[in-house]
Amino acid sequence: MHSHDGHTSCLSRLHPNDILFRFNIGKRMKDITQRFHDIHEEKSTFNLEHGITEVQTVDDFWRQTSSDITEPVVYGRNQDREKIVKFLLEDASNSEELSIFPIVGIGGLGKTTLAKQVFNDHRVCKHFDLTIWVCVSDDFNTKTILQSIIECITGQNPNLNSLEAMRKKVEEVLHGMRYLLVLDDVWNEYQEKWKQLKGKLQCARAAKGATILVTTRLEEVASTMQTHPTYHLKKLSGDESWSLFKYHAFGPNREETEELVAIGKEIVRNCIGLPLAIKTLGSLLRDQSEVRQWINVKEGSSMTNEENSIMRALKLSYSNLELSLRRCFSFCAIFPKDFAIDKEELIHLWMANGFIESERNIEVEDVGNKVWNKLYRRYFFRKQSVMSMVW
Ligand SMILES: Nc1ncnc2c1ncn2[C@@H]1O[C@H](COP(=O)(O)OP(=O)(O)OP(=O)(O)O)[C@@H](O)[C@H]1O
Ligand SMILES: [Mg+2]
Repeated sequence: MHSHDGHTSCLSRLHPNDILFRFNIGKRMKDITQRFHDIHEEKSTFNLEHGITEVQTVDDFWRQTSSDITEPVVYGRNQDREKIVKFLLEDASNSEELSIFPIVGIGGLGKTTLAKQVFNDHRVCKHFDLTIWVCVSDDFNTKTILQSIIECITGQNPNLNSLEAMRKKVEEVLHGMRYLLVLDDVWNEYQEKWKQLKGKLQCARAAKGATILVTTRLEEVASTMQTHPTYHLKKLSGDESWSLFKYHAFGPNREETEELVAIGKEIVRNCIGLPLAIKTLGSLLRDQSEVRQWINVKEGSSMTNEENSIMRALKLSYSNLELSLRRCFSFCAIFPKDFAIDKEELIHLWMANGFIESERNIEVEDVGNKVWNKLYRRYFFRKQSVMSMVW
């Protein structure tokens, strides 16, 4: 600040406007520092600095499944069940080779639920000498899987250290048996790992008709298995979705007022045939009879993101992304929800920000295309005539 005669004066520094200016600047700096702090905090929730394994262990227990039927009523899966049972009892049963049947679909679509239906079907139980359920999740380890198989059949932990000993034991328990093995929730995309497990199982010389039923979110997992056919599970129809919602939201005794039904139908429409979402929102409304509460759920405002299981399911897909993909996806947070994104433009933005680089002899645009395809196949984007984010 300068005085009229060109000298810096102490008094002028104390001019009220100056004080106000400093006060405002001070406040803005404080706000900005706070925002940096918030961004830093938020950044840590995206796990952009750590490898996949570190993130995974947190969800492990929650992801564990077993073969028992936990769902009181399963809606709209009779046809699916019949098709798979038919495959097991007819096609697979005549095959000399070990049959593999992968069920593929987005998280929360009901793959595990369907696999349980098949696993517990009386015709299936009768047809197979042995039925074995192994929850694989993100840790695809031949030794651990073989150990689970042995434990499942004998009821005892084999306590064997070497892979060779484990293989021998598996051969002992599976030899000459027509077995059904369910590998639930597989994420492994490595050809080698899959070949190793399959090799060990083939060594066991089981009886004709032995089959592996796999559930996975990823198309790549099914292609790794190089098998035919892949079963793409479909979303529930409008009527099936409504029945499932009604079951959870109203239960047997609750009055279905016209007003709640109308809002409920809109909520169901937003769930795009995804049982996990329908069930979660239906159950959330079970004890709530206020119209306002239903409207809140419809508008998505009454869910705390950290807690609800839909977010947990989606977060798992995110945690399973490689670090570079996670960065590319997180970057999309700059776009508003439901924003239509042009694919080429997005790839250029990734390039400009240094998130993707050319690999050996692959052009950087093609790398961008690969990244985009991976995210798309994991359902992070939804196709329109243009692309939009699924949040
Ligand atoms: N057809 C259905 N009828 C009623 N409830 C269902 C149906 N399908 C799934 N559910 C319920 O929805 C939830 C999610 O289903 P499930 O765990 O089978 O999904 P998933 O496809 O295996 O998901 P993930 O990819 O996370 O393993 C479960 O609570 C299940 O009980
Ligand atoms: Mg599952």
